Amino acid sequence: MGLPEERGRSGGGSGVREEAGARSRGRSWSPPPEVSRSAHVPSLQRYRELHRRSLEEPREFWGDIAKEFYWKTPCPGPFLQYNFDMTKGKIFIEWMKGATTNVCYNVLDRIVYEKKLGDKVAFYWEGNEPEETTQITYRELLVQVCHFSNVLRKQGICKGDRVAIYMPMIPELVVAMLACARLGALHSIVFAGFSSESLCERILDSSCSLLITTDAFYRGEKLVNLKELADEALEKCREKGFPVRCCIVVKHLGRAELGTGDSPSQSPPIKRPCPDVQISWNEGVDMWWHELMQEAGDECEPEWCDAEDPLFILYTSGSTGKPKGVVHTVGGYMLYVATTFKYVFDFHAEDVFWCTADIGWITGHSYVTYGPLANGATSVLFEGIPTYPDMSRLWSIVDKYKVTKFYTAPTAIRLLMKFGDEPVTRHSRASLQVLGTVGEPINPEAWLWYHRVVGAQRCPIVDTFWQTETGGHMLTPLPGATPMKPGSATFPFFGVAPAVLNESGEELEGEAEGYLVFKQPWPGIMRTVYGNHERFETTYFKKFPGYYVTGDGCRRDQDGYYWITGRIDDMLNVSGHLLSTAEVESALVEHEAVAEAAVVGHPHPVKGECLYCFVTLCDGHTFSSTLTEELKKQIREKIGPIATPDYIQNAPSLPKTRSGKIMRRVLRKIAQNDHDLGDVSTVADPSVITQLFNHRCLTIQ
Ligand code: WT7
Repeated sequence: MGLPEERGRSGGGSGVREEAGARSRGRSWSPPPEVSRSAHVPSLQRYRELHRRSLEEPREFWGDIAKEFYWKTPCPGPFLQYNFDMTKGKIFIEWMKGATTNVCYNVLDRIVYEKKLGDKVAFYWEGNEPEETTQITYRELLVQVCHFSNVLRKQGICKGDRVAIYMPMIPELVVAMLACARLGALHSIVFAGFSSESLCERILDSSCSLLITTDAFYRGEKLVNLKELADEALEKCREKGFPVRCCIVVKHLGRAELGTGDSPSQSPPIKRPCPDVQISWNEGVDMWWHELMQEAGDECEPEWCDAEDPLFILYTSGSTGKPKGVVHTVGGYMLYVATTFKYVFDFHAEDVFWCTADIGWITGHSYVTYGPLANGATSVLFEGIPTYPDMSRLWSIVDKYKVTKFYTAPTAIRLLMKFGDEPVTRHSRASLQVLGTVGEPINPEAWLWYHRVVGAQRCPIVDTFWQTETGGHMLTPLPGATPMKPGSATFPFFGVAPAVLNESGEELEGEAEGYLVFKQPWPGIMRTVYGNHERFETTYFKKFPGYYVTGDGCRRDQDGYYWITGRIDDMLNVSGHLLSTAEVESALVEHEAVAEAAVVGHPHPVKGECLYCFVTLCDGHTFSSTLTEELKKQIREKIGPIATPDYIQNAPSLPKTRSGKIMRRVLRKIAQNDHDLGDVSTVADPSVITQLFNHRCLTIQ
């Protein structure tokens, strides 16, 4: 397709076409021949053939893949049935309905007994401190999971029940989620960086009957007393008339007190001096993980589930109202994460894979737990952060475990870039073969640094665009096949049919910019919003009947490459995590001093976007740094540290349309001191805008 190609970095070589300002016609980087040679998909042509087949014959394409998995009973009826068009009735998607299987069986028992990989390391666990390490083989993981499944069964957990999990990145987190999957219970994992309020809200929304948590953990230097937050959440649940009857607590920081034989995951004692973490104990509700595990039996028959039974719930921010419980199902999700993992990271048996995401996010669900395990891969499970004990932690881990495929977020790359090349080049990184990124658009500068410094120009970068809702990768290069353009997520994965629509819902051909939508279902698509199917339909299918609407804008260049341009709804992407303006605003107005609030995204060199808040105060309150500190604290407590605003500006009034809608587009410009406001004819009172520009200097950071 006549792509300009360049292998070097200089950008001026012959045959390289560069047009000022035209990202679309920028440089492209060919997959390195040594990667293509052994790749599952070795050329762009082969990718195109496979992609075409996956769209023309989805049932056959995914049917062949399904044969690699264990099915208790085969699919009795149609392999795929769906309706994407609200005007024709209820939205539904069913892959392999009526077939029965178990995801835990497929990612553990099948790997141990069919693939004979019982002794292969499933996870190298690296704790917050570099010397805290352990490893766990597939067989050991299976034993732990069977034990814990029996623990859950004894506590009355059955197929279809919901179990909340609020834990740091420790092996027990994986054990807990797989035990749920084994019993057909739905895990609802809540990121351990979220507040007790957020945990409470999620427990209530899906009426979880049990909570699994941890005493405490370190994130870098910071001690997080997780049990205390869990207690607060359960107390709030009780106040709201929903008592959770059982809370299982992993002794993690307190591991040193346990004999090694009792240690449930064979993790070594935590070496860091541990101050007295005061754990309060609710008799009759709280139970120690290690005590329950001691009594549990070895054998645990999996619960056979329908392919369309729910596997888990994971909450994601919605542009209006409370977080949505995204529901993924057994059969489709399993097929999709296994397949994307295999092709996008070009997985081979000897790989050591490392996805740095927390399991509390979908990236961790799909590419720390389910995808790698379904392939029998060895992965790194990392508890810590990239900057502790120093800036080179990630690369020292890469060398320690000889990581071959590495997957992280643009925000981490930008953060590390600030500290220069030396913390990276200090380590060899010779094992690295493929690099990946996810979470937000990666700016070409960060892409180039990742490629040049981290990957030493040898490693293709897979820029993977996807969402909590999609279960797995949607737009992404394949390392051995796709010429890359920095900043572009390139082409659709197998089974994915993207389209670019204009405001009237017409499909645009060729070079175009508009709404990114998908035209047909892929196996990993979410099936519903937990307890609110109508919200599922209105959020994703109402705007353009017949399409799944991502909520992202995108551009397709003349070579057919897709470039995500960002969210088109009232969503913010802070360090790769979505937040809704509505949830931050409602946390602000809960403060007695705040009458009204409007929150917009603001460019940030590391986080990508940060929060810029405008607050209108109630009479009798004055704007001060004490107040802004209180507001920040309030947001941290209501939502979590991720949502902490960088700027809070006093806004005597807010720019609104005559119908009273806050004009966030204008506020975004004010935040950036950009006077080029475009059309402001609909603003009810233009003097408000001038006033806010004048007040910018009073903004408190
Ligand atoms: C939103 C989904 C999928 C796991 C992480 C986030 C943005 C994600 C990319 C990318 C440009 C990206 C989109 C998307 N996004 N990956 N490679 N390039 N944008 O999951 O919290 O559900 O957020 O993140 O805006 O809609 P999520």
